[in-house]
Amino acid sequence: MRTELSVNGRSTVVEADPRTTLLDALRHHLGLTGSKKGCDHGQCGACTVIVNGRRINACLTLACMHDGDSITTIEGLGTPQALSPLQAAFLHHDAFQCGYCTPGQICSAAAMLEEIAAGWPSHVTDDLEAPPPFSDAEIAERMSGNLCRCSAYPNIVAAIRDAAAGRTGA
Ligand code: FES
Ligand code: FES
Repeated sequence: MRTELSVNGRSTVVEADPRTTLLDALRHHLGLTGSKKGCDHGQCGACTVIVNGRRINACLTLACMHDGDSITTIEGLGTPQALSPLQAAFLHHDAFQCGYCTPGQICSAAAMLEEIAAGWPSHVTDDLEAPPPFSDAEIAERMSGNLCRCSAYPNIVAAIRDAAAGRTGA
């Protein structure tokens, strides 16, 4: 099946079996191995990518469902020479150990910060009339779909808090 995608700003075509997940298309057909396969069941968030501005689990969706969609992976957020604020903040705060969850954490955080900025409430938002705060509680709740087996959670929250405040420490 032929699927046209815009991946990290570049138009590309994937020719794959219709049962191919978006995650496998990215990793195996396009060679973008930054997105990780942790569970392949929508439980860990390691495969998180941003599709048309929304974060999703790439293991839970088929590539052929995304014809014409715009997809951002960790490779599209920044480069080693030009890190995104979140990538720089993760480095600064040592927000990882093995790093396997990190691409998903950063993609999820990038979209999550946009969700807060757009005023979307979460389960822990107290005041639905006011803009949600960039608080640790909001960050933890909104990042709860991204598991870290190394338990780098305090550093991940600190990194996201700094990136949200425009302070990467880089
Ligand atoms: Fe997709 Fe775990 S690999 S959620
Ligand atoms: Fe190892 Fe998160 S850094 S799983």
